[in-house]
Amino acid sequence: MKLLVTGGAGFIGSAVVRQAVAAGHQVINLDALTYAACLDNVASVADAPGYTFVQGDIRDSALLETVFADHAPDAVMHLAAESHVDRSIDGPGAFIDTNVIGTYTLLQAARRFWDRQGRPEAFRFHHISTDEVFGSLGATGQFTEDTAYDPRSPYSASKAASDHLVMAWHHTYGLPVVLSNCSNNYGPYHFPEKLIPVVILNALAGRPIPVYGAGENVRDWLYVKDHADALLTVVTRGAVGRSYNIGGENEARNIDLVRMICDLMDEMAPAGAPHDRLITFVTDRPGHDLRYAINPARMRGEMGWRPSVTLEEGLRRTVRWYLDNPNWWQALQDRDGVGQRLGVGP
Ligand SMILES: NC(=O)c1ccc[n+]([C@@H]2O[C@H](COP(=O)([O-])OP(=O)(O)OC[C@H]3O[C@@H](n4cnc5c(N)ncnc54)[C@H](O)[C@@H]3O)[C@@H](O)[C@H]2O)c1
Repeated sequence: MKLLVTGGAGFIGSAVVRQAVAAGHQVINLDALTYAACLDNVASVADAPGYTFVQGDIRDSALLETVFADHAPDAVMHLAAESHVDRSIDGPGAFIDTNVIGTYTLLQAARRFWDRQGRPEAFRFHHISTDEVFGSLGATGQFTEDTAYDPRSPYSASKAASDHLVMAWHHTYGLPVVLSNCSNNYGPYHFPEKLIPVVILNALAGRPIPVYGAGENVRDWLYVKDHADALLTVVTRGAVGRSYNIGGENEARNIDLVRMICDLMDEMAPAGAPHDRLITFVTDRPGHDLRYAINPARMRGEMGWRPSVTLEEGLRRTVRWYLDNPNWWQALQDRDGVGQRLGVGP
């Protein structure tokens, strides 16, 4: 297939790009190269036949018109977004601009292209979203595809809005869309402002490891390679107009996750052991959702997909990757806001 991937220089998008190229797909990677992007993430495929990079913004209608006309993709995989909840608390405007207006602009461009092509049934607009649109769970229960939306942060509200636009473009205009909502990802090339890289890099540097609140918040962690596999499954085999919840069935409280990483650091970078002495509880994020958990039955039953990596194994690979790739993360640590506490609220 010829895939137009938006946000392909980010964390998950670059995993999709690398795996799509390896699977023999042609890929056009459209990315604005914001603070969260890094072209090193896709350096391994930069010279691959069938791979093209276009620097551009999904809010630029004229540019999108040219990209669709020049490349005539079989499918769009839309990952470009502002993605950091803490930044959305300090500056929600960028999240509305990119996640809502950007998705609207991309939908319109895709729809015009699809109309010009004679509305092919096989075309797909795959919107990549998050489980955060479903809000916060108590101690029990799981999100299914039928769970009502209840977003609580500017980030999740902007993603929820974009999900609604995507489904509206299907019901109103017939655009063949698929939607997926995934739990927290982790793995190589994770931008160093997110929890798991922060823990690894602070432990390595002997700096305090910040844990929000009492560390009781529970997330369902999925190794990024498994998410990229799931996304390539959904875009090729997903049913039009359907949504798919993707999760790792790897729930962990933040404090337990942090302790697991500290244990791995004790083993793999023993000079600073014990690393859990660095754990520091800090003021919680306002509106911090307590628990997310995905019921992945539809992905398992209809697609035969399941995660290949346990949390223990995925964390081990991730720690190894950060220890082996200082050049990658050192270059990103000077970027605006990285290493600072963001999203404390008023
Ligand atoms: N990270 C997670 O745990 C997670 C979980 C579920 C879903 N998601 C969703 O997956 C997608 C990718 O997440 P990520 O963690 O890789 O994000 P990321 O922040 O690492 O990457 C986002 C990419 O989008 C690009 N981008 C931002 N604004 C753009 C614009 N206006 N035009 C073009 N490109 C733009 C950035 O340059 C960057 O390369 C997002 O839509 C996110 O909501 C993320």
